[in-house]
Amino acid sequence: MTSPLVVAIDGPSGSGKSSTSRGVADRLGLAYLDTGAMYRAMTWALLQRGVDLDDPAAVASAADAVRLESGTDPLAPTIHADGTDVAEPIRTDEVTGAVSLVAAVPHVRELLVDLQRRAIGEAPGGIVVEGRDIGSVVVPDAPVKIYLVADPAARAARRAAENGGADAAATEAALAVRDQIDSTRAASPLVQAHGAVVVDGTHLTLDEVIDTIVGIVDAAS
Ligand code: DC
Repeated sequence: MTSPLVVAIDGPSGSGKSSTSRGVADRLGLAYLDTGAMYRAMTWALLQRGVDLDDPAAVASAADAVRLESGTDPLAPTIHADGTDVAEPIRTDEVTGAVSLVAAVPHVRELLVDLQRRAIGEAPGGIVVEGRDIGSVVVPDAPVKIYLVADPAARAARRAAENGGADAAATEAALAVRDQIDSTRAASPLVQAHGAVVVDGTHLTLDEVIDTIVGIVDAAS
């Protein structure tokens, strides 16, 4: 296998990517990068600046001034925007509802893909990177690519539980809207990357999903 090891984990919202990716990184002693957190942090910073997120040109020009920093320890990942710790505010409904608009702007994607490639380059011991376009755009030559899926109802139940028992049907509807935007946007839509292995977590526990992916990584070594 080429070195360093990069494990790309893509998939739709609520498929369990974050817990799975952190678990895989921890088990294999790799760094971890949550690229969704970067799109969320960018969205938070633009909202702070009062940028009209329905205006892609305004989003693109304001994005240049935003400074993002990601900490890549899988046991304690961090995300800062303009020097502020935004780990909590990026999970609010306001950011969650707006992030697809920001992630659809090509210039934002260029900026963040550049940062992501830099973070990967700064992890000589290897890294697990989770997102939507990691295997297709960010690291198309990653030695291991996973496309993690789960049934919509299972994904919604997981997200609703994470959100303190929110209504599962409403959560499933909101996920369907985000999936639709993420998979049909012109810039780097969510797709199963060439060479990606599909892992369906619908009927598996978190540990079983982690075991499955660690097995795929071991088989590729
Ligand atoms: O994984 P998440 O729910 O935190 O992602 C937040 C949003 O960012 C989601 O709407 C998809 C988008 N995203 C993206 O377009 N590309 C990535 N590599 C990661 C996330």
